[in-house]
This record gives sequence, C-alpha cells and structure tokens, in this order.
Amino acid sequence: MSRRPLVAGNWKMNGSRDSNANLIHDVIFEVRKYPDVDVLVCPPAVYLDAVGRQLEGSAVQLGAQDLSEQPKTGAYTGEIHGVMLRDVGCTHVIVGHSERRSLYGEGNDKVAQKFATAQECGLIPILCVGETLEQRENGQTESVLAEQLGTVVTACGAQAFKQAVIAYEPVWAIGTGLTATPQQAQDAHAFLRAQLAASDAKIAGLVRILYGGSVKGENAESLFAGPDVDGGLIGGASLKAGEFMSICAAAAAQARSK
Ligand code: 13P
Repeated sequence: MSRRPLVAGNWKMNGSRDSNANLIHDVIFEVRKYPDVDVLVCPPAVYLDAVGRQLEGSAVQLGAQDLSEQPKTGAYTGEIHGVMLRDVGCTHVIVGHSERRSLYGEGNDKVAQKFATAQECGLIPILCVGETLEQRENGQTESVLAEQLGTVVTACGAQAFKQAVIAYEPVWAIGTGLTATPQQAQDAHAFLRAQLAASDAKIAGLVRILYGGSVKGENAESLFAGPDVDGGLIGGASLKAGEFMSICAAAAAQARSK
C-alpha cells in the first residue's frame, strides 16, 4: 500500500500564544522520529501566522479549521479567504467539520462550495463526514455518508479528490471518549472508498481517509489497523505533545505493517 499516513491535529477553539509556542516546540522536536508520517496542525485562525512562522523549516504542515466559501475576497465581514490562508503558510483546510455542520448550519451544499474554493486557492481540503448516533441506530450511516461525500463528488468531480483528504468522524465519537470500534471505522472507510471508486477507481485508491473521534495514544494503533484507515484527525489529544506524538508513533507502526 502506497498511501502515507497523515495525522492532523484539530485544535478547535483552544490555545494561547504561550501554550501554542510550547506545544509546537515539542511537536517539532519529536516529529523527527516519524519521517514516514505526514503531520499537520490546525490552530485557530488568529494564531495561524505565528504558528506558521514557528513551523518554518520543520516537516510539520499548517492547516486552517475553516474558510469562506466565497470565490473572491471582498466585503464579507468576519470571513477568511483561502488565499489569505495560503498567504500565512497553510497547505490544508478542514471543511464540513460536524461542529460547523451542527452549530453553524453548514449543509452539504455549502461544504461543497468550501471544498471547491479551497482547491481554487491551492489548499488541500480535508472533507469531514460522519453520522450522528441517531442516524447510526436507525441504520442510516451509509446513506448519510453517501450524501455527504456524494454532494462534493457531484459538485467538484471525483478527480478533485486527487488533491483532497477525507475524514470519517462519527459525531457520537467526537469529544465523548467513545470511539468507533476498529471494525466500524474500517467498514465506514471502505464504504467511502468504494463510493469514490464507483466514479474513479484510481483516485479512490490514492485518497487518504482519516478516522476522527476520541483518538488517543492508547487506542490509535488499533483504530489505524484497518487497510482503509490512513491516519487520524485528532481533537483533544492533539493539544498535548506527548499524546499527539504517541498517535504519530501508532500511525508509523501501522504504516510499517500494511
Ligand atoms: P476529539 O479527538 O476531541 O474527539 O475530536 C475529534 C475531532 O472532532 C477532530 O476534528
């Protein structure tokens, strides 16, 4: 298997200048142990510039947590354009995180616009998809995932996933301490990859699909075991360098055994 693992830290609305500097200092130092893993941090927008400067010369990449769907800069108070994210050193941007979907009313169409704008700006979107507990219990997991991914495939084409990442984040596992079982994660990832393969098998074989939802050092290796699991999108555990690095170690160990 030729997909390099990716471990991405989504800091959400956490951090301060001091705590960020300490965290990044430790991550840069430790990450050298894992040359076979791509590592990305996604701080709050206000800190991107400073974190990006601190990351210069390191292997750690910078991502944003969101961007405006507007194709052009201009009179959109409070919004942040993808070209600005590029300007401060971002290579990636998260789109469609479940917190944005549920708390800020982002539907599939808006997420697809953000995905498209990100790529037009030269950013790699990390498209988040995932079902709620109610949807899982009602047997709707696959139809929800199919619609979330399908809207973007219809809008942007399967080829767009040549420069994109997918993150499967079951909503019920985010910040709850509950995780999908390794088999549930693998099943969802295989389903997503098969859906993309129906449009373009080559791209589907290349795209990285991350698991997110209460990943920690102690459970990462088993969650990353599935053949279609290519790393993780990490929330709370990405705020502690030691914990984040043990997740990178787990990704490196799994990459060696796949
Ligand atoms: P936790 O790892 O805190 O559950 O968050 C996962 C997540 O939402 C990453 O985007």
